[in-house]
Amino acid sequence: MAWSFSALRLRSNSDICGWSSMKTVMQFGWAILLALPWIVTASPAMGEATDTTLTAEDLAQIRTMLRDVPVDVSGSNRHVDDPDAIAFGREAFFSHVLSRNRETACVTCHDPARHWTDARDVAIGGTRNTPPLWNLRGALWMGWTGRADSLWAQVARVVENEREFSIFRASFLRRIVDDSVLRDRYEVAFGTMPAHVRTAPSDCGNATECRSWWDGLSIVERDAIDTAFIDACKGISAFVAGIKPPRSRFFEMVERMRDDAAAQPQMDARELRGFRLFSGKAGCTMCHHGSTLSDGEFHNIRLRRRSADDEDDRYAGLITLRDSDFNLLSRHNDAPDRVRHTGYVRPDYTFLNSFRTPSLTGIGHTAPYMHDGRFATLAEVVDYYSEFKGAAEAGHHETVLLKPLFLSPQEKADLVAFLGAL
Ligand code: HEC
Ligand code: HEC
Repeated sequence: MAWSFSALRLRSNSDICGWSSMKTVMQFGWAILLALPWIVTASPAMGEATDTTLTAEDLAQIRTMLRDVPVDVSGSNRHVDDPDAIAFGREAFFSHVLSRNRETACVTCHDPARHWTDARDVAIGGTRNTPPLWNLRGALWMGWTGRADSLWAQVARVVENEREFSIFRASFLRRIVDDSVLRDRYEVAFGTMPAHVRTAPSDCGNATECRSWWDGLSIVERDAIDTAFIDACKGISAFVAGIKPPRSRFFEMVERMRDDAAAQPQMDARELRGFRLFSGKAGCTMCHHGSTLSDGEFHNIRLRRRSADDEDDRYAGLITLRDSDFNLLSRHNDAPDRVRHTGYVRPDYTFLNSFRTPSLTGIGHTAPYMHDGRFATLAEVVDYYSEFKGAAEAGHHETVLLKPLFLSPQEKADLVAFLGAL
């Protein structure tokens, strides 16, 4: 039971989750209190209630979307709100000189004109669908498998990953020093670049490729390179942390409910029926809940592997995370007392074939879907959840709760309409 496993694990950290479950109870209480005047005054006048009237139960369900994430990891980056760091990050995000081949930039795959994705099933040269970049400021885990536990660690991975920038951290810094605009913005935000960066080869893919230079550095000099590198990554992630989703009438109204008791999302009849399915019979909110409609955790939804050698799931992701120099247990975490959930997770067989629950914010704009982009439309996604055609059987170590829903064509259309409104 992958989902309840992760819920249990989180609950073991009582100072985080004791509070969040208390908040849930309080919010539920509030929902009823706030709905009371509506129930008392509005209901009798509603003899001819239209199909689009929200019930107290609907409102209570919607209010659960105001729940905050259990831990905000943005504190791990002390530069996250610094305008100078953001200015460096914006410049770097769009710059091609930072990748080894000088042809790839973040924007190559995360294009604002394509809602911060590449609109492909999988990224060029890769095996994974490119996610959009909004609402990541406080996300607990990054990527489909959670290989990084902070936004800045994710950026560090991109830089050194051979499928992305494929450049060693010291060469990456050398490229910054060699570009007058990037260098100026870097130094305004983070101070002078360590002098020995100027002697680094500008073209190493990894440490082995510039071994003689790297081996010639003292431990202190290597640490200075790591710190300067992570500062640059924190700058890029400060820019990414500010990326907002496309306008959504639904989420804008949900947000207004935080301060305005009378605000409620307006949904047409199909969307409302879809919403009730989503949060009711179809059980989608078991995993897609909270303010971005994701629990931020990892589940197996029985998608059959496309190739037998693709073993890059949460299990593999956790091993990479544990071995990373730049996870939240490292000295680069700026809020070590507050942010250390990484210490609680262990690679466990229940994580096999699990992927991170994607946020559903703006989901109508980011086709194709799933970690390998296998579904071209939301209708195909809903068909899958309805019948589980071609789904993998649960393996020896896996228990999967999802059962076919056998939705009617009308119900499927309603669910697609609701997802499209997000
Ligand atoms: C070659 C295409 C490509 C390039 C270039 C690229 N990305 Fe990505 N990005 C991806 C893919 C694919 C994923 C999902 C990877 C995975 O989870 O296995 C991803 C994931 C991410 C995530 C995690 C998003 C989430 O929802 O968890 C962030 C953040 C990110 N990229 C930022 C960046 C930044 C910043 C840059 C530039 C430094 C960059 N990416 C360059 C393709 C790319
Ligand atoms: C057990 C947890 C769970 C439940 C229940 C669940 N989902 Fe998901 N959902 C996931 C995970 C995990 C993924 C990513 C799977 C992957 O790519 O391997 C996903 C992916 C998706 C995607 C694709 C998102 C993207 O960016 O590619 C959509 C859309 C979606 N789910 C909608 C729904 C709907 C609608 C329901 C209810 C019928 C539902 N989900 C029920 C966990 C769940």
